[in-house]
Parts: sequence; C-alpha cells; structure tokens
Amino acid sequence: MNAIDVQRTTSSVYGAVRLGYVLVESPRLAEWKRFAADGIGMALAEDGPSALAFRTDAHARRLIVRRNANEDLSLGWQVDGPPALGAILARLASRKVAVEEIAGEEAALRGVERLWRFVGPKRQALELFVEPKLAPDAPRVRGEGFVTGARGLGHVAITTRKPEAMIAFWREIFDAKISDFIEDRINGVDLKFTFLRVNSRHHSIAVAATKGLAMDPFTTKIQHLEMQAATLDDIGEAYRRCRALGIKIAMAVGQHTNDRDVSFYAVTPSGFYLELGWSSEGDGEAEAWPQVTHQGISVWGHKPLDQTLGDRLAQMRNGVTSLLRKEYSPF
Ligand SMILES: [Fe+2]
Repeated sequence: MNAIDVQRTTSSVYGAVRLGYVLVESPRLAEWKRFAADGIGMALAEDGPSALAFRTDAHARRLIVRRNANEDLSLGWQVDGPPALGAILARLASRKVAVEEIAGEEAALRGVERLWRFVGPKRQALELFVEPKLAPDAPRVRGEGFVTGARGLGHVAITTRKPEAMIAFWREIFDAKISDFIEDRINGVDLKFTFLRVNSRHHSIAVAATKGLAMDPFTTKIQHLEMQAATLDDIGEAYRRCRALGIKIAMAVGQHTNDRDVSFYAVTPSGFYLELGWSSEGDGEAEAWPQVTHQGISVWGHKPLDQTLGDRLAQMRNGVTSLLRKEYSPF
C-alpha cells in the first residue's frame, strides 16, 4: 500500500474528493488539439506524437489525450490526503473491488505522483490520486480561464441502465450526496437525471437513465464532461471560436434549471460532449440546494444545433441494442 494505511473508518470523505483529471484514449490527436486548445481555450502543455496534455489551472495536467486505436476514457479523482484515500480504499476492499496501485510513467502521463485504479460501474475506469504535479507558471488559457479549486475540474454525466446501482456506488464509496433530480423528454425519450455532489460543486456526477424500459442511448463511456469558465464572456467567446472552427455543437447556449449554469455542449472528437458552463453561484452554497425534481433540463436554450437525423437515429439504435448487453456493476 506504500505508506497509505488501509483501515476501516466510518468518517465521511464528503468534501475531500473532486474530479482531478480526465484521460482520453483516442486515435484523433490532431482533432483533439484543435478542439481543446483552439475551440474550448485550454492551454496546451504537451504536444507529442503519442499524447497531448492540457491545463486549465495550476495543475500540470487536467485533460490528457493518449494515442490509442480505440476510444476509451479514465476519470481521475483527487483525494485530500491519506486518511480519505485510506477510507475509500478500505470501502473498495470490503466490497472486493480490485485496486491496482500505479506509479512511474503511467502516473507521470496523468500529472500525478501515484494513482490507485479500479473499475467502477459500467466498466468506467476510476483512478484516485493525492498529489498532483503543479506547473511553475500560470496556464496560457484563452479568456479569463476556468473555475476549479475545491470544486475540482468539473463534472461528468454518465448514462446507465442501472441507475440505482450506480447511485448506490457513489454514495457508498464516495459519500456522495444527492443535490436534486431532473425529469425531461429528450429526442422522444423520457429521462431522469440524478445529480450527485462530493464537494461544494452542485454535482460532480450526473446519472442519466431512461424511465420505463432501461436503455442506454450512448456508446461513449461518459455522456459529457463539464468544465466551468470564469466569466460569461468566456462562454460567448468559446462558442464563437467553436462555430468558426466548424466544431459540432450538440446543444446551443442555454441555462440549466438546477445549478443555473449557462452553458453549451460541443461534440468532442471522441464523440462524447464537452459542456462549457458559467455560473453566478459562489462557493459553498451546495448545502442550500433543495432536493427537488426539476421539470426540464433548461430554463431557456440548449436547443439541438448540429444534431442530424442520423445522429438521433444512431442514439435510438444504440438504445435498442443496449437492451442486449449486460451492464457491469462492481457490487
Ligand atoms: Fe452538465
């Protein structure tokens, strides 16, 4: 375990965990460079033939894209220190979830000293780390930059055919709290979203599931990754850059009902969406969110923009074929 004492503890890790990095595996490095740096406005930190790395803040790496023939994605979660890490590892051990400890080149690629990797719901690779490598200089991002800090890199939304098991996993292993719910009908499908927070960010994980027959219309590991821009101007500028570059926009600018984020969704070269959002809400207000069910994901906007009939048919086909697949759950 290398200096980390695994011991059973009942103390909560709520507030001690945040999304730290995302590692994308993709054959499309040139497209990713254009998308993340020129479109969204992240700072390019490594531009190599086998990997790209992007910064949004003091961390040396926040988004890493490694060249691979197949698309894949790992989520890195930053944990405050050995006690919280030990608590999470003890919970995984008690549920007999295998954890691999990794250092060296694999850790360096992610911009961390060491990581603990395991397979979560829907075979999502999840990784824990304590010590991020920091860069000595400020990131050369476009605009005013990104909001991270105690809230972490952003949030992810994951579609699932087993929402109860997925929510139970995040609650049991990470002490996630439910912020609220949204019901909506999107592309003719009734969906229920459950928003889970592990720190003061309104949510770090959104669990999306169809109502009635359990289908999964997305073949990507995550449905979207969100990053938070510092100003509303940054959203407008990034939106204009993406449009000028011909980057597909899944949903145009709009405002969410629950976290009040003003955001748009761009289609990444890997097929999942990147939501760039801005919120007027300050830090530390998460505990005040009423645990209600909002009707509709948006107060205004978020209209489908570059989604073709083919895209919608593909989602419907994915939903139907998902009925034939088993969805993995670690317990
Ligand atoms: Fe989102």
